[in-house]
Amino acid sequence: MTEFLEKFDGYTRQFERVLEKYCAEMNYRPAVLAESMRYSLQGGGKRLRPALFFSALESFGGNAGEEGMLALAIECIHTYSLIHDDLPAMDNDDFRRGMPSNHKKFGEANAILAGDALLSEACSIALSESGRGETHRLAAKWLIDAAGAGGMIAGQSADILYENSDDSGEDALQFIYANKTGKLIAAPLVMAAILTGRNFTEMCAFGAELGVLFQMTDDILDVKGKSEDLGKTVGKDSAENKLTCVKLYGLKSAELRADLVAERCEAQLEGIAEDVSFLRQLVRFVRTRTH
Ligand code: IPE
Ligand code: IPE
Ligand code: MG
Ligand code: MG
Ligand code: MG
Repeated sequence: MTEFLEKFDGYTRQFERVLEKYCAEMNYRPAVLAESMRYSLQGGGKRLRPALFFSALESFGGNAGEEGMLALAIECIHTYSLIHDDLPAMDNDDFRRGMPSNHKKFGEANAILAGDALLSEACSIALSESGRGETHRLAAKWLIDAAGAGGMIAGQSADILYENSDDSGEDALQFIYANKTGKLIAAPLVMAAILTGRNFTEMCAFGAELGVLFQMTDDILDVKGKSEDLGKTVGKDSAENKLTCVKLYGLKSAELRADLVAERCEAQLEGIAEDVSFLRQLVRFVRTRTH
């Protein structure tokens, strides 16, 4: 695990350098706009999606050092999704990444605008990167589609729709998982495959499964985790009567099911010709994570 954590740390540091430069050069007016965008972007976070992107690029013989801007676009979208997810109209969460959530710090209107701005920034970056050629255009399109009405937004919409609904079941839960979390976890892996001219079906399947595992552990940690470790409020899902794996199956069964999904993730990697040991270890990391 030490080697894995060192590698993860290396990808994170690589990403933080790109982010730091972008934030330092950001000079939008009024100042509160740039400040609120920076606040959430630089407020920590595991940087899982950029790490997935860099590691898959490396596995497939790509050059992670040349794709920092696409990694930034991915994280801008993820960060915006968190800002909006925390809003009173959605999950009404006061803490994120160990700090007051964006709307607690800047007010609701500014938080909505910071999220909007980060999504626009991501689209602008993706469009600029598209100019580098057809593979970049396709990777950028994949990302923007994954973020939208056929992806993360669809999942968030279903998450809200099935709140307080006590007759919804497995299909609804799988739809939520596949879209609100799965699409943005699979996207960096698929983008790396596209950029390196590799077939992307395996990364699409693995990423979807990893997304399910990631959200299952998020739901489990909402019950079992510690707020200090997670940097966000715990117990929120049952307070808001969210449709989660814990609500549907109970905690013990949800954990057993998460173990099975982790095994399925590992099985997805088995036929892959390239060295994907980082991704294999990442499955364990996601299953056993405490933050
Ligand atoms: C939180 O994502 C939202 C979910 C999809 C469960 P992360 O757990 O990756 O959040 P950060 O980026 O580390 O804060
Ligand atoms: C959010 O899922 C997924 C997103 C698209 C942001 P959650 O609502 O469970 O994420 P947390 O627990 O607030 O991080
Ligand atoms: Mg939510
Ligand atoms: Mg939430
Ligand atoms: Mg959650």
